[in-house]
Amino acid sequence: MEDVPEHIAIIMDGNGRWAKSRFLNKAAGHRAGAQALRRLAVDAEKMGVKILTVYAFSTENWKRPQDEVDTLMELIHDYIQQYIDDSKKNDMRICLIGDLTRLSDELQRKIADLQEMTSNKKGLRIVIALNYGGRDDITRAARKLAADVRGGRTTLNEIDEKMFASYLDTKDLPDPDLLIRTSGEMRISNFLLWQTAYSEMYFCDKLWPDFTIKDLEKAISQYRRRDRRYGGRNE
Ligand code: FPP
Repeated sequence: MEDVPEHIAIIMDGNGRWAKSRFLNKAAGHRAGAQALRRLAVDAEKMGVKILTVYAFSTENWKRPQDEVDTLMELIHDYIQQYIDDSKKNDMRICLIGDLTRLSDELQRKIADLQEMTSNKKGLRIVIALNYGGRDDITRAARKLAADVRGGRTTLNEIDEKMFASYLDTKDLPDPDLLIRTSGEMRISNFLLWQTAYSEMYFCDKLWPDFTIKDLEKAISQYRRRDRRYGGRNE
């Protein structure tokens, strides 16, 4: 496929409604969501996408009932374990963004292992946003930068957009070209606030567990018809 977005970000919404419509519990919906992600990663890689950033758990998701939070953490744990087990035969590179300090020690260790084990992989890069919030990302960056100014490691005059971006969790990633949100909601919900300044947005009604390669193709074909001007003119 030509002109495929290099970096796609996805808000995987609708697991709960998917489960409800089948008289299943929320855990079954999130499990189906995790499977949809595994399938889509393989499809996206085949299509030539280089980076897939997915919103797995937001800084606000802690407000959900404890059993749902536990289910999501278990699923994410299993997902990471699966990639550790598969990492010899798998070419995907996995990294995480977000404030990982609130996660269990065991999960933090697993994440560190996975990032280390896949750091030299050349295939699709999957970026999992976990305990991630766009405002939290910017706030943590501001705090680190202020500490560097106070410590004399940089000066106020050196601060510009590029430099500020180097303090964000996404410092070594290009901005997303395309942001997809499923399930009919049309919000960013505190996802990559800084990074999506010029991303193309694609909203669709499909619930996340039902999102397939066909839907990805539709999103990409609409993206291709967009005229990206970044505030300028293309005449
Ligand atoms: C939104 O659906 C989805 C989430 C809050 C979590 C997304 C997580 C997964 C897809 C699975 C686990 C992720 C990984 C990386 C293994 P919702 O529950 O808000 O849906 P609803 O609005 O229909 O209730």
